[in-house]
Amino acid sequence: MGRLMQLLKYLSDYKGYFTLNVVFNLVGVAFTLIGISSMMPLIELLFKADNDSILDFLQPNPHNDFSRKYLEYEVNHWFANSISEASSFIEGKKRTLFIVCLFIAISFFFKNLFLYLATFFLAPVRNGIIADLRNDVYQKMLNLPVSYYSDEKKGDLMSKMSNDVMQVESGMIAFQRFLREPIQVIVFLVGLFFISWKLTLVVLLLLPLSALFVSIIGKGLKRTSKKAQGQLGQVLSVVEETLTAIKLIKGFAAERTFLKSFKKYNKRFYDLRNRQIRKSSASSPISETVGIAVFAVVMWIGGNIVFDENDGLRGATLITFLMYMWGLLSPIKAVIGAINNLQVSMVSMDRLDDILKADEKSERFGGVKINAFNKEIKLNNVRFKYEDEEVIKGVDLTIPKGKTIALVGHSGSGKSTLADLVPRFYSVSEGSILIDDQNINEVDVQSLRKLTGIVTQDSILFNDSVRNNLSLGVEGLTDDQFIQALTIANAKEFVMQLESGIDTIIGEGGGKLSGGQRQRLCIARAVLQNPPLLILDEATSALDTQSEKLVQEALEKVMDGRTALVIAHRLSTIKNADIIVVMDDGKIIEQGSHNELYAEKGHYYNLCTMQELN
Ligand SMILES: Nc1ncnc2c1ncn2[C@@H]1O[C@H](COP(=O)(O)OP(=O)(O)OP(=O)(O)O)[C@@H](O)[C@H]1O
Ligand SMILES: [Mg+2]
Repeated sequence: MGRLMQLLKYLSDYKGYFTLNVVFNLVGVAFTLIGISSMMPLIELLFKADNDSILDFLQPNPHNDFSRKYLEYEVNHWFANSISEASSFIEGKKRTLFIVCLFIAISFFFKNLFLYLATFFLAPVRNGIIADLRNDVYQKMLNLPVSYYSDEKKGDLMSKMSNDVMQVESGMIAFQRFLREPIQVIVFLVGLFFISWKLTLVVLLLLPLSALFVSIIGKGLKRTSKKAQGQLGQVLSVVEETLTAIKLIKGFAAERTFLKSFKKYNKRFYDLRNRQIRKSSASSPISETVGIAVFAVVMWIGGNIVFDENDGLRGATLITFLMYMWGLLSPIKAVIGAINNLQVSMVSMDRLDDILKADEKSERFGGVKINAFNKEIKLNNVRFKYEDEEVIKGVDLTIPKGKTIALVGHSGSGKSTLADLVPRFYSVSEGSILIDDQNINEVDVQSLRKLTGIVTQDSILFNDSVRNNLSLGVEGLTDDQFIQALTIANAKEFVMQLESGIDTIIGEGGGKLSGGQRQRLCIARAVLQNPPLLILDEATSALDTQSEKLVQEALEKVMDGRTALVIAHRLSTIKNADIIVVMDDGKIIEQGSHNELYAEKGHYYNLCTMQELN
């Protein structure tokens, strides 16, 4: 129920519509009652053979309290009057029948009109809450730290965003039932008591039985449902991974393997869904069977009361009672169905809650805002672990403003990880990173990241124009600025040759470009944003000598006069860096200029000889 409260929190923005919904529901239910009640005298006076009872009802009302008998008499009195006003009884009955039929039709017209209006005004509430929820989840996805995504499966997140949000929506439909049906239940219960409290007690004794029956089924359903949702997440995860790796899968002719694993997950989902649907569809026939049994028992007992005649319950009134009871059963059935729906959607709400309540950790917004750095960035005895094992083992490093620092070292030595710590994609486990003596943990994370431009190891591009890929939403950039950045990144020539120049759409992940072209676009993007600190993680992917040279030149031009942290695998690129830092197993083992380190004949020297560089 805690989850339900959370949904209700969203509701508070829609009070106006919500109130209209409740009001129209009330009016609609009142018309239902009127419509059903007006059938009673039909049986009593119109279809009974003898005319004596009509004459009986022409007398003034002998009851003067507000009891069932009083009301019965009043209605029948009106009917008797209406019939006797005509030239003959048969004419009167025909005329009255017409009036009653018209009245019933009109009552039900209004009933439906008002219940429709209620739904009409509920639509913006229902959809509004869902839209709000979706916005919240999306915003949360953007706010969550990078580390969250190494643990969570993307497919599962997608499934939460689409499927679970939809489940919550169907829960909202169920919720609507909770607004309407109880009103109808109360109104009809009052009607029942009014007619016969004895019979009503019988009804009240029997009804909880059916509720108990179905709630037991509901419990099992909730468990299956949670499993099924999780399983769907796994299915989608496989789809997600396949789409990102489609070229690789085809390249290695691994379609069979992937299909097999997909079928396995899909089969599990299929089994769970079968169980879920079988359980949920059992609830409706079970509740109807139980409902009819209750109905039969009440009819039997009620019929006996009528035969007894001591109580004075009239046959026609018993039929009205039974019709009220029918009017009572269907909303109860609906509520029970709605409870099942709600249980399913609460499971989805739980799953969404996992995201909504996820710890944003280092992504704390707020804190000191900085918009420049003047002196240096300093790493003090920085240690970091992704999980249990330390990856960065005590690094001290100073990046003075205007200098280029190059990180070199074997694969897996922690270079990319170290670079990720500066814009706080991950927070240091121990030690500190200071920007002009200010600990970055106390700095507003967005203002910190505005200081750093990143070119990651895997060139990340969107299926959009070159222009939008470079500007990343920054507005008001002139064409000259784009050309300048592209020139520095050695990308101008090929971009100009694209069909629509810088407005060419470059395909999913930049798929219409070569690897080297993609890298150079990413470099151009970082240059265009012109950040105070540039972090370049040179891609390891093998490029041909020609495009490797273009990328290298681009990097060299970029480093010139900028503060940059460059991770390079081709040592020729960083030969001219101010400081070269050699990393091994999470530690700095050598540090100095190319000439110094080369002369030392240590680790760096070995790396150089391996790449035949002197
Ligand atoms: N998201 C992650 N979760 C857990 N461990 C990780 C993660 N990313 C990297 N690692 C581990 O951290 C260590 C350092 O990785 P890192 O990517 O920093 O190396 P690198 O020096 O950049 O290597 P390369 O030259 O191949 O790019 C590796 O042992 C790697 O397995
Ligand atoms: Mg790396």
